Amino acid sequence: MGFVNNILQQKLEALKEKGNYRYFLEVNKSAQHFPHFYYQNEQGVQRSAVNWCSNDYLCMSTEEEIISRLSFTMHRSGTGSSGTRNISGTTIHHRELESKLANWHKKENALLFNGAYQANVTTLQTLGRHIPELFFISDERNHASLIEGIRAAGNPKIIFRHNDLLHLEEILESLPVDQPKMIVFESVYSITGNVAPIRNITRLAKKYQAITYVDEVHAVGLYANDGSGMIASEGLQDDVDIINGTLSKAIGVFGGYIAASNLLIDFIRSFGTGFIFTTSLPPAVCSAASKSIEMISCNGAWRAQLHNNVLLLRAALNQQGIQYYQNESHITSVKVGNSRLCKEVADSLLSQQGIYLQPINSPTVPPGEECLRIVITRKHQLKHINHLAHSLKKILHEKDQAYRPKLEAVAAAD
Ligand SMILES: Cc1ncc(COP(=O)(O)O)c(C=O)c1O
Repeated sequence: MGFVNNILQQKLEALKEKGNYRYFLEVNKSAQHFPHFYYQNEQGVQRSAVNWCSNDYLCMSTEEEIISRLSFTMHRSGTGSSGTRNISGTTIHHRELESKLANWHKKENALLFNGAYQANVTTLQTLGRHIPELFFISDERNHASLIEGIRAAGNPKIIFRHNDLLHLEEILESLPVDQPKMIVFESVYSITGNVAPIRNITRLAKKYQAITYVDEVHAVGLYANDGSGMIASEGLQDDVDIINGTLSKAIGVFGGYIAASNLLIDFIRSFGTGFIFTTSLPPAVCSAASKSIEMISCNGAWRAQLHNNVLLLRAALNQQGIQYYQNESHITSVKVGNSRLCKEVADSLLSQQGIYLQPINSPTVPPGEECLRIVITRKHQLKHINHLAHSLKKILHEKDQAYRPKLEAVAAAD
């Protein structure tokens, strides 16, 4: 073990050296007081803070009716499913949820996984391994789960520049017409909040006979009249072959899925090892997710509240002169550009101002693009927004003053 331990130690030290070591805050989540939560600081004192980095965009994880549905089904069906989907782990709640998801996305069928990460890896890996000629064309900003799925498949691949249609077409043009190909991208990119030109990508896919795989993890629940996502808001459900989504963010419960044709779902169900060889989601989780989707689809007012809050947040940041990535989504990220600085700003926001913003460092973003990703929910209020904008300006200014000479010294030494 000595050799292995040494390597592990060295790699962890290198991570700390670069400022990219991950420290987890132990959040004592409160369903009653969201977005406030409780935590113990380094001195062991109980403190409260406002959460600005939860993906519970519509606050569904704290919604009384969802909690009641979860506990009702759990009392009836027990805690876990206790089996893989093939061996007693397919309950009426799993099938009800899959059918609801398929209808929501206007697809023939859907398939549940224990997370969208697992859904992405399993689907891409399974398709690639069974179709060795399949050529993956992947956006350079794709999520780790999409990259991992493509890598695990081992098929030929090309990366296209982020959201760059000209580059994408150049690649498509260069491939033989009869080469099977798949374009893999996200509708809303999780860190910058950039929105993909979905309509134009699907046009290119049609022109060059490629199939399309879209990760809608940060869009489901939040876009279109029925909340089913960005693809639906553009009326493109028929033009996208495979939609990937999560039940763990806007839906507020847990799990992931794909929605596609009967044939494709049957294939992944039959050959996807990451689907076959794992215990299925707890029945109560499926039932609560079904309830959440029912409520989300007919509650446009919640979406309106969220999007209005995004506008209020951005107006407050503008007023304080704080720059953020411009985009048409609900994600507002402030670039800091240095991992240590990013962490120091986040630490001070928490200890001095009761604001919890997790620094986003490498490898989640490339070095130099470290940022604070602000996630507003429908329950944040104007007083929270103003407090965040004022505090962010103050701390960014203080830290920048303290840090600039150090950064300039490092640059000069390089
Ligand atoms: C773009 C994207 N895809 C997939 C995932 C994985 O989702 P899940 O948490 O359901 O596994 C994430 C999670 O953060 C994500 O941001």
